[in-house]
Formats: sequence, C-alpha cells, structure tokens
Amino acid sequence: MIRLTLNQQTRELDSPPDKPLLWVLRDELGLTGTKYGCGQALCGACTVLIDGQPSRACQTTLADIEGRSITTIEGAHGHVAEVVQQTWAQLDVPQCGYCQSGQVLAAIALLTENRKPTDEAINDAMSGNLCRCNTYQRIRAAVHEAARILGA
Ligand code: FES
Ligand code: FES
Repeated sequence: MIRLTLNQQTRELDSPPDKPLLWVLRDELGLTGTKYGCGQALCGACTVLIDGQPSRACQTTLADIEGRSITTIEGAHGHVAEVVQQTWAQLDVPQCGYCQSGQVLAAIALLTENRKPTDEAINDAMSGNLCRCNTYQRIRAAVHEAARILGA
C-alpha cells in the first residue's frame, strides 16, 4: 500500500510499488490529462508536479513518491495556476494540445518560483517539454503575460 497526496486528496494505492505513476494516473485513476509521449523522460508530455517540482511520471514509480504530494493538470489550483491557464487561453497557445498539460504545469512551477522570468529562464525551465506543433513562441509569450498579471 502506497500512501500519497494526489490533487490535494490523501490516497492509498494498492498498485505494485514499481509501477510507473503515469500508468497509475491514466489507467487506474482516469486522470488522462497526463500524456504518454516517449516513456523515457525525454519529451515532458507526462509532466506532473511532485512537491511542486516538474517531474516525469513515465519514469517515476509509486515507491518513489510515497508520502509526497502530486499535482496533475486536473488538480492544478491556486492563483498562479489560474493566471497561467487564463493566459494560455487568451494567447491561443495550444495547437494539437498533446504536450500542453506538461507545458502548463512546467509554467506554473516556473512562475511560482520566479515571478519575472527572462526568456533565458523560460527556455531553461521549459526545455524538457517538447512541442511537435512548435508553439514555443506562444508559450514564451504566455509565460511573460502571466508574469505581468501576477506582478501587477
Ligand atoms: S512520456 Fe514521459 S517524458 Fe516523454
Ligand atoms: S501543441 Fe501539439 S505537440 Fe504541442
């Protein structure tokens, strides 16, 4: 039995401790906002926040996260998350959308720690989240706009 906090709720999970979090979320809990891309920690599609830090659910086992707090896109909450999701919509960031749960969570983590990120800081923080639709410019613009609103 693995005990953890998932989207602000305490959960006790019976899955094997070596099972990747990605498949627990998607197949057992129905939280399909977390996507499967590469399965090798290379694309960022499966990004979740673990204790607020962007992490790859495809390479994280349940045993790795015992006692920790996990946030998926379904559970993103609070002022920073609201502003990020608002600016994402305003600037029409997504194209196909496949990578965007991970992008949004990475942006929330960045803006929680750095309220005025430079282009370089954005590139550093988001470089592990790939986008096949090449929405990088709109992502950067949306992070800047979210920073402007958060700093106002
Ligand atoms: S599916 Fe996890 S990083 Fe690509
Ligand atoms: S919006 Fe299509 S992969 Fe990023």
